[in-house]
Amino acid sequence: MVVHEQEPYNAEPPRSALAEHPITPVATFYSRNHGELPELDPRQWRLRVDGLVDEPLSLSLDELQRFEHHEVTATLQCAGNRRAGLLAVRDIPGQHPWGEGATSTARWVGARLADVLAAAGLRRDASDVAFLAPDVAPEASPPAPYGGSITADKATSPEVLLAWEMNGEPLTVAHGAPVRVVVPGWIGARSVKWLEQITAQDHPSENFFQQSAYRLLPPDHDDPAPGDGVELTAVALNSAILRPDDGAVMTAGPTEVTGYAFAGGDREIVRVDVSADDGRTWHQAELDDQLGPWAWRFWRTTLELRPGEHEIVARAWDSTAALQPEHAASLWNPKGYINNAWPTVSVTAEHPPDVHL
Ligand code: MTE
Repeated sequence: MVVHEQEPYNAEPPRSALAEHPITPVATFYSRNHGELPELDPRQWRLRVDGLVDEPLSLSLDELQRFEHHEVTATLQCAGNRRAGLLAVRDIPGQHPWGEGATSTARWVGARLADVLAAAGLRRDASDVAFLAPDVAPEASPPAPYGGSITADKATSPEVLLAWEMNGEPLTVAHGAPVRVVVPGWIGARSVKWLEQITAQDHPSENFFQQSAYRLLPPDHDDPAPGDGVELTAVALNSAILRPDDGAVMTAGPTEVTGYAFAGGDREIVRVDVSADDGRTWHQAELDDQLGPWAWRFWRTTLELRPGEHEIVARAWDSTAALQPEHAASLWNPKGYINNAWPTVSVTAEHPPDVHL
């Protein structure tokens, strides 16, 4: 793992590790934490459901697991994924230089949030559903527990889970044990780990991570107040080149290029193009089988590389015919979110060794 910070633990897999498995093993799944990881005792743990509901609930893990179990294969992507590309445009003080590895995919098992809200009698005047966890984030002022919210519409969609299992194993502490929210298609920040409270309300969460962080600000917005900028919800169309690695040196000739593309929201990836000459000519990549509507799509193609330096570029389209933006420069924003510009890697192809017959 590429460790950006030891405490709190923030790390991402390198390109080569991510490229190996369409379902990311737990050991290489990225980890994004704003505070110290809380170790909750699953026997003591309770989930409160309150606010605009007819019947507030307090559920033990056993009681939660009596709800019907559902499995969803979903990609989580941090809004800071590929921030390194924005840092190359202009500095972003205090933010980690995440590469393309702040994105990973798992099979999640849990109860539908919709079923739990129905059991609590979600009221019609609830427009938002807020989540609260016990981990305290020092970057909030004053330091405050982590939280956030999603719309009631998304919260009652069947893909949103209160998950206790990841790739067939109980959740690890780093990924939110005993129970986390999984909000497929939305930025990772809303998939709140170590979940302890769900509150139905008529406004978005007032938590720091809803009102101050994870908002898209204009580039010149120096002194933002809570609520400024655009709240981030669905993930933006994005892609990454995973093989070859940036800076790789290989023998000239046929070279396999692979990567992921992720449409976010409820959109799908429909096409990925790859260029070996900095975008002058393009080859359409093959798309691997779809893992499900909420997961990334791996793609691959073989390019013929002549001896010399090459800039390999990729670009993805989604089912609404949207194409990724070309340059990161137009995307720079003060917190460094949503770099979904065309990904590039620079490689050197060397003459094949002389063959003496
Ligand atoms: N939940 C809590 N309680 N605390 C956090 O710091 N980080 C969020 C989200 N849930 C976070 C959290 C962010 S920003 C992301 S991208 C995802 O968790 C990352 O999930 P992972 O660490 O399992 O990959």
